[in-house]
Amino acid sequence: MQSITKQLNQKLIAAVEKSYGFLADLPEKLILPASNPQFGDYQCNIAMSLTKKIGDNPRNIAQKIINNLEISDLCLSPAIAGPGFINFTLKKEYLESLLEELLKIPFNETVTKAEMSKKIIVDFSSPNIAKEMHVGHLRSTIIGDSLARILEFRGHDVLRLNHVGDWGTQFGMLIAYLRESYPDALIKPDALDLEDLVNFYKRAKEKFDQDEHFKEISRLEVVKLQSGDIESLKAWELLCQQSRREFEKIYDVLDVNLIERGESFYNPYLLHIIDLLRARELLEQNEGAQCVFLEGFNNKEGNRLPLIVQKTDGGYNYATTDLAALYYRVQKDFVDKIIYVTDAGQSDHFQQVFQVARRAGILPDSVEAIHVPFGLVQGEDGKKLKTRSGETIKLKDLLSEAVKRANDDLQNRLVEERRTENQDFISQVSQKVGISAVKYADLSQNRISNYIFSYDKMLALSGNTAPYMLYAYARIQGIAREAKERQVFSKILLEKESEVILAKALFDLSEILEEVEKELLPNRLCEYLYDLSKKFNKFYENCPVLKSNEPLRSSRLALCSLTAQTLELGLSLLGIKTLERM
Ligand code: ARG
Repeated sequence: MQSITKQLNQKLIAAVEKSYGFLADLPEKLILPASNPQFGDYQCNIAMSLTKKIGDNPRNIAQKIINNLEISDLCLSPAIAGPGFINFTLKKEYLESLLEELLKIPFNETVTKAEMSKKIIVDFSSPNIAKEMHVGHLRSTIIGDSLARILEFRGHDVLRLNHVGDWGTQFGMLIAYLRESYPDALIKPDALDLEDLVNFYKRAKEKFDQDEHFKEISRLEVVKLQSGDIESLKAWELLCQQSRREFEKIYDVLDVNLIERGESFYNPYLLHIIDLLRARELLEQNEGAQCVFLEGFNNKEGNRLPLIVQKTDGGYNYATTDLAALYYRVQKDFVDKIIYVTDAGQSDHFQQVFQVARRAGILPDSVEAIHVPFGLVQGEDGKKLKTRSGETIKLKDLLSEAVKRANDDLQNRLVEERRTENQDFISQVSQKVGISAVKYADLSQNRISNYIFSYDKMLALSGNTAPYMLYAYARIQGIAREAKERQVFSKILLEKESEVILAKALFDLSEILEEVEKELLPNRLCEYLYDLSKKFNKFYENCPVLKSNEPLRSSRLALCSLTAQTLELGLSLLGIKTLERM
């Protein structure tokens, strides 16, 4: 269903047009929530910005627009205030009838979809083989998954790609090292776990940096691997599988779906990319390497920086793989839009790759490529997140700690509330609350800022947290359970102010999702859901539900049910599953 603001907006645009003919640079949004509820529900400031263009004073303009405005079924007659603000107050009967309409439609259909369905790739998570997945990958996984869910819900055809770091020189080094010191790892599937692998990787890297001979052997291993040597490929595949098993565990816990298409997938296209760049005369030899000189990226001396696409030894770079990935996604996936979710540190990388891809014709103007950057995860001391003994935190441990603490909180609450629950309930609730808390804490921040990781804050039952949201939902479900009878809603009555305020907020989800799609900021959805729960709580304080007489009782139960469904849908789009009780 169209949001109220959208409907009003359309009517306003029509009224401006009727008054002054078509105006080319009219803003898209003429209507805003009222800055002060005393003046009504919404306001429009367009009269002031039209003064120059029209050559009249804003109050006259406002009056003329009002004269041409057909909204008597939606609003009381609009008022002009101050220099020329137009204020709108919705009619209660209108809101009531809208809600009645809403209740006739299956809930998910009341939320509007995108006008045109697009093919969208969300490239997210993307950890590296033989390395631990770190908190940066966790952020990418959580934000990417939520964006993918929202885009899918909006009706787009979304491909969720895991661009795993599974190719390149590091494998030569690792295989060479294992061949020397632990050859079993290269032929037996379960010889190593990820932790061993990470340690071997560290030692291999040390040796690589110190030992020229080892460097040479490693280089030969890469060549062997990249030229398709069967035995090397087998060893490489084993190493990948070991890491993959660990990644899968994390994705399971987080309930995230991804299709793995690692860097190696694009190997067959790398040579073609070089040829393409050469054909476009973009390639230049620079100290033995093949480069494209970038526009707008300069070194200290003010000279243009090169993007190296093929190193002196013939090897390719991260950037070359990304060019090949773009090529594939345009040519084979027929993508309309690609969204890359990585830390802000990779912004330059993506701007450079996009620029070269555009100039080379790999990325046509019709395809949008967007880097969605996010800030660092910090400990409560504002420094890099570490364990007490100073090591980097493993994701697995971080998630199980959140669940453990959620469990402690729940046990305490059960004692306080003198409740007994079975073990099944306790572990289910702790699991969901713990994981949701981590997700919500990340998503509720503006992703661009650094984010301070605090178990205490994210698990708090009050404030903009997952437990608060889940609790609001469970509470409403509790009311519904107590009401017992299946409700048949026919009449909506909005008696008190807090009731009207809640009712209005229930129409905003469509627009919020549209904005999240535009700005790619999931925190907008969190803010909305948090605001909605607060409005619900006010309503619940002021308006008895079960103790009211009919028809008010049914009407209020209907408001409860719509709020619950809005919360449930909103949270599900953040990757959070609701609980009926907690
Ligand atoms: N593997 C990279 C990392 O760990 C992220 C890859 C992001 N995606 C991409 N197409 N470059 O930082």
